[in-house]
Amino acid sequence: STQQVFYGRFISTPNPDQLSINTGAVLVTSNDGRGTIQNAVWNVTDVQTALSSLGVDASVPVIYAADDGFFFPGFIDSHIHAPQYPNLGLFEGTLLDWLQKYTYPMESSLSTTNSPLYANSTAPPDPYARAHEVYTHVVASTLAHGTTTASYFATVDVGATNILAELALSMGQRAYIGRTCQDNTDNNPWYYRDNSTAEAIANTWSSIKYIQSLDPTGDLVAPIVTPRFAPGVTNESMTVLGQIANETNLRLQMHISENVREVALVAQMYPDQSSYAGVYDAHNLLTDRTVLAHGVHLTDDEMDLIAARGSGVSHCPASNSALGSGIAQVRRMLSKGVNVGLGTDTAGGYNPSVLEAVRQAFLVSRELSFLANDDRTLDVPTTLALWLGTMGGAKVVYMDGRLGGFEPGMLWDVQEITLDSGGDVDIFGWETWTERVSKWVWNGSRRNVNRVWVGGRQVSQR
Ligand code: GUN
Ligand code: ZN
Repeated sequence: STQQVFYGRFISTPNPDQLSINTGAVLVTSNDGRGTIQNAVWNVTDVQTALSSLGVDASVPVIYAADDGFFFPGFIDSHIHAPQYPNLGLFEGTLLDWLQKYTYPMESSLSTTNSPLYANSTAPPDPYARAHEVYTHVVASTLAHGTTTASYFATVDVGATNILAELALSMGQRAYIGRTCQDNTDNNPWYYRDNSTAEAIANTWSSIKYIQSLDPTGDLVAPIVTPRFAPGVTNESMTVLGQIANETNLRLQMHISENVREVALVAQMYPDQSSYAGVYDAHNLLTDRTVLAHGVHLTDDEMDLIAARGSGVSHCPASNSALGSGIAQVRRMLSKGVNVGLGTDTAGGYNPSVLEAVRQAFLVSRELSFLANDDRTLDVPTTLALWLGTMGGAKVVYMDGRLGGFEPGMLWDVQEITLDSGGDVDIFGWETWTERVSKWVWNGSRRNVNRVWVGGRQVSQR
């Protein structure tokens, strides 16, 4: 095993309403590149004292946070569509039309020349070469934005999905990777779907097995069972996917209650079920390892059901505004005991940065409060938004206690933020780090992310 010490300013959100700012040192011990925090000392003013309190000798390498910066837990993007990255910034209409017009053509272009994207092309590219190119860019870009863990929707195609898993592993991002299951032949285009339930299940197993063969421990890269959303999957497939997830203990992810027309469609497809969440629950898809994207229109009863099952919700505010979906009730969900994290929902969301999701979580909550007779208990303050992007997300992706902070036992998944050199923040004389963090949140960009580590391994450099 190898040891490293990280020394300098550490900032994190150990609780939803607490911003912790501390100078200290952390000892990280790595086995097979899976670096975990062994020990930490806080409120030290010099590195020698820190090293002797940690009990490490002088041969251990020390990595210093920049004087104008700090270590911050890596962001967790609990909902991102890797194949939609080329569509960032392209949206019009609302969910169901947008899926047909932009999303399915783009996703299918990574596996078949039948994609409408190539309709006017005399020499379409090799789709898998394109998948490799797009996915390399997605992993490099999200790492550079400080995203150390991503829960990815890939595509319906097994080969392209497996390429994403290979790249996340080799580039060192913690990633849960789901082949989208979509075998409802009414609601999916002919050129982009599983053609039968049998095919859907076989493809699901094939991708699970392959991804597990890449990383048998599942520590860094693991498969996640992904019924895209109730309208796109058959009743039969949902039943089998629920069985698979519960037999294997794999994570699950799907969309829920994002858009009012989608909710109406699900009610029409399942007239005997009382709600959208009820449809998933009837198929045993709500587990403590389930990530539900959006949840904009969940009722109180659905929130209670989701909390009782221990499932989490990925709040995707930039996407919800871009697609006109509505505003999720984050504070209401939290008060009912629902786990909530943040998602970029690239490319329903227009930006792959979790920091942008942090800002949007704050901003949309301001509108929500105002529209609810100025009820300020609905606000999501900056500290809470940062917590959602780190600790909250850790709970949602079933990594509670392993990610999101600087406690012993947690993985060293960390970004180094700098404020003066080369970034987009003007400190302009503000002295306190509370104020500086606020300036980072509101004006920072990927240019403020200097180095990024996952499991103690450095995976990005500005
Ligand atoms: N619902 C089903 N598929 C999708 C998707 O790709 N993006 C979003 N935002 N919602 C969905
Ligand atoms: Zn989505």
